[in-house]
This record gives sequence, C-alpha cells and structure tokens, in this order.
Amino acid sequence: MQKRKLIEVALPLEAINRESAREKSIRHGHPSTLHLWWARRPLAAARAVLFAQLVDDPSSRPDEFPTEELQRKERARLHNLIERLVVWENIRDEKLLAEAHAEILKSTDGNPPAILDPFAGGGTIPLEAQRLGLKAHASDLNPVAVLINKALIEIPPKFRDQPPVFPGLADSQIRQWKGTEGLAADVRAYGAWMRDEAEKRIGHLYPKATLSDGTKATVIAWIWARTVTCPNPACGIEMPLVRTWWLGKKKGKEAYVVPSVVSAPAHPSRQRVKFEIGHDKAGAPTAVADGTVSKTGARCVACETATDLKYVRAEGRARRIGSQLMAVVAEGNRQRIYLEPTDKHRVAAAADRPTDLPDSALPEEALGFRVQAYGMTKWVDLFTNRQLVALTTFSELVSDVRERIIADAGTASYADAIATYLGMAISRTLNKSTSICSWDSSPKMEAVRGLFARQVIPMAWDFAEANVLGSSSGTLQRTSSG
Ligand SMILES: C[S@@+](CC[C@H](N)C(=O)[O-])C[C@H]1O[C@@H](n2cnc3c(N)ncnc32)[C@H](O)[C@@H]1O
Ligand SMILES: [Zn+2]
Repeated sequence: MQKRKLIEVALPLEAINRESAREKSIRHGHPSTLHLWWARRPLAAARAVLFAQLVDDPSSRPDEFPTEELQRKERARLHNLIERLVVWENIRDEKLLAEAHAEILKSTDGNPPAILDPFAGGGTIPLEAQRLGLKAHASDLNPVAVLINKALIEIPPKFRDQPPVFPGLADSQIRQWKGTEGLAADVRAYGAWMRDEAEKRIGHLYPKATLSDGTKATVIAWIWARTVTCPNPACGIEMPLVRTWWLGKKKGKEAYVVPSVVSAPAHPSRQRVKFEIGHDKAGAPTAVADGTVSKTGARCVACETATDLKYVRAEGRARRIGSQLMAVVAEGNRQRIYLEPTDKHRVAAAADRPTDLPDSALPEEALGFRVQAYGMTKWVDLFTNRQLVALTTFSELVSDVRERIIADAGTASYADAIATYLGMAISRTLNKSTSICSWDSSPKMEAVRGLFARQVIPMAWDFAEANVLGSSSGTLQRTSSG
C-alpha cells in the first residue's frame, strides 16, 4: 500500500497562511532583496509543503501509531513542528531545522529524495529544500533566474565558514566567521570600495544641492520633464510633457512644480518655460488639472494648444523629444527638500554619452512595452547620458573588483562569487536608474519608483534620475549592503 504523506491528510494552514503573508513585509535578509524576480512564492509555504510531502502521515505507520487517537496526537506533534518551522524568525534555528531534517529521514528510510525544481524562478523551492537539509537542483528558462538561484543556493555553501579576504577585515575582528558571514562581509567591503572608486571616477556628475541658507545637501534625484516643440507656429516653445506636477504630498509639507512662461534671457522674443517650487496648498495641482499630458494628448503651458500623442510620437521617432530639468530633490533632516533647477545641475547632467555601449534592440513589440512608439528602439534609449556613464562605470568596476579579489584571495572562483553579488547590486541600482523611472510623491515614499514596480515599460513623461552615488534607495551603497 502506498504510504500517505502528511500533506495528503492535514496541514496547519492557518499558521502557514499567516506566516506567508507576514513574510511579505520582511525586507532585511529576505531573498527577494537579492534581486528582483516576479511571482515569487512565499518561503514559509514552500518550507511547509516540502516537509509535509516527505513526512509520513501517522496513519501510514500503524505499527507505531495503532489507534486513531495515537495518530491524532502524532499528527498534532508534526503540525506543531510545522507551525514553528514557518516562522521567519526561526529560519536560522539550527536545532529546529535539524529536528525537521530528522523527521524527514525517519519517513524516507534515511535516504530522502533530491528536490528538482525546473521552474525555479526566484529560487524559493530549492532554497527551502536546502534549508531542510535536502539535495536541491534548480533550473529555469530565464538566465536571470538561473543566476539568482546560483547566488542564493549554489555559491554560499561553497565558501561556508571562511573568513573574508578584504585586506584587514579578518584581522580586525578576532572571532570565528560562521556560515556566510565572511562572504557577506566581503560583498559589503568590496561593494563599498566599488562605490568609493565610482565616486572618484564620476563623482563630479553628481553635485550637491545648495540650500537657501547656503549649506550643501546630497541630491536624491533630479526631476525632468520631456519636451517637444509646440506645434502652434505662433508659440513654438519647448513644451514640457508632464503627467504630474506633484513632488511631495505629505500633509503640511506639500510640494509641487509651478511652470511659468518667461522670455529667454539671450533672445527676448523667444519664450521658455521656467519651473519653480510651490508649497502653498491653495495653489496645488488638482486631480482634474494636473500635468500637461493625458492618455490622449498634451497641452502647451504657454498657448494652451492641444496636440495629440501622434504628434509627440512622430517627434520622438525623429529624435526631437528633449528634456528639461524641473526640480532637484535634496536630502533634508528626515525630509525631502525640493529645489528649483540651477545651471550647476543642468551642466552636471549634460554628460558625454559613452561610446562603447551595447547596441541591442528592444523587442519590436512586447506586452506592456510602450516606448518604441516614441522612437526608443534600443535598450540604451531608456537611459540618460549620465545614467549610461554611471552604468558603464559600474560594469567596468565589477571587472576591476574581480581582478582585485583574485589578487587578494588568490582564487578566481571566490572573485567570481563576489562579482556575481556586486553585479546583482548594479542590476538592482539599474532598476531605479532609467529615464522611465518616475517620482513617487506619495507621503510615505517621496522616492524614485523602480522601473519594474509594474511588469511594463511604459512611457514616462516626467521622470526622476536618482543620484546613484547617494545613500538612499536605488544607490549602489544600498544595493550592495543589503
Ligand atoms: C511562477 S515562476 C516560479 C517562481 C518560484 N517558485 C519562486 O518562488 O520564485 C515560474 C518560472 O518558470 C519559468 N519558466 C517558464 N517557462 C519555462 C520553461 N518552459 N522551462 C523552464 N522554465 C520556465 C519562468 O522563467 C519563471 O521563472
Ligand atoms: Zn504653445
């Protein structure tokens, strides 16, 4: 008779559901923070399911549990183990994991099967299999998922209990390096080295902001508006294309962009749009009259001429969409400070485009990709010149850091491991470093929104260019230390 497994009879669903839901709000140390992947399944559920499909239901062991009462008691004991096993805070409880592993061995004659997940995605199932002491195999159609699995499951055990190799780090703390502590310390140390090196190479592109009292503050992001020439020949200004004027919606600290039309200093007959920052609630943009672009068309802030998006698309395909700096967001004391653009910031943004860029094309058509219609046909078109400089510099730095680690550690495989994690850090930085990233003005955020907040590449009219050398979200410092 086929033995019934625990999963076929009963599971403590309430605890599994509760912990699976709770896990979503856990950021620190959660595999989802290693790299973005879609449709991740909860770790707690995978852990519980793996356990319960390997462990026998007590009714399958009549010799040990001859009566229903005894079976019920044993089932309750196993459920209690699952209830402890699914709690996030217990994932490093080695005693508990050993207890679970022993149960699995008991039900599999000491020879548990290996777990194979051919659709491993973010690696939930093989990771949890490994945690339960099982041999795990993973693969996926997508190479990004494969790399995530390697970084999560394959690499860490290779360097278990090793001290870090970054010069001085191991000696600075006389202690044992347990588990992945050494590896993690190296990722942080070499990540910090990379960040500092990037500062030396391209720091001049990220000037500080000058506040009204003359002090300097680190910039968090620069907010841009795309522009096209107003089709009204009597006007002809560079009209800003803006979805929203809002910068910050925190109660009492509202901030928004206020456009006005002024004469260009050098050519009094030519007009241009000037941007200031408004705080007064009375003048704030309203839901019905916010920005200049809607789903159907755009409106000129100078002459009120309405144009349809067909015109904007044609201008885009003719490479005539420009951009104008609208605001600078600086780091204040636990709040954002919104400043008018200055020449210093305009000049810093006007970086030369790197020459050795990858040339690959965006798919001609793909679900949710809207940018091609506006003339963005290559991946590089999704970035500003300054972003391209930063990403090129970071990519070079991964190679440089790899060479450095080979020199420090003497092994290429360890250098590859660290370079893999730092490559992922850059990839995460990149998610917040495209010209499709918008500014999230909601009170709790006031931050650059990651491109893949949704699984689409839409057109962004106003966009936020993050300061990748700063210290808030979307910076190399954050992504390589998490
Ligand atoms: C829902 S996700 C898996 C999520 C994973 N269990 C986790 O928790 O992160 C499904 C995965 O199947 C992969 N996939 C889709 N078709 C595939 C195929 N034909 N062969 C291998 N993998 C495939 C996708 O790339 C995706 O990563
Ligand atoms: Zn106009």
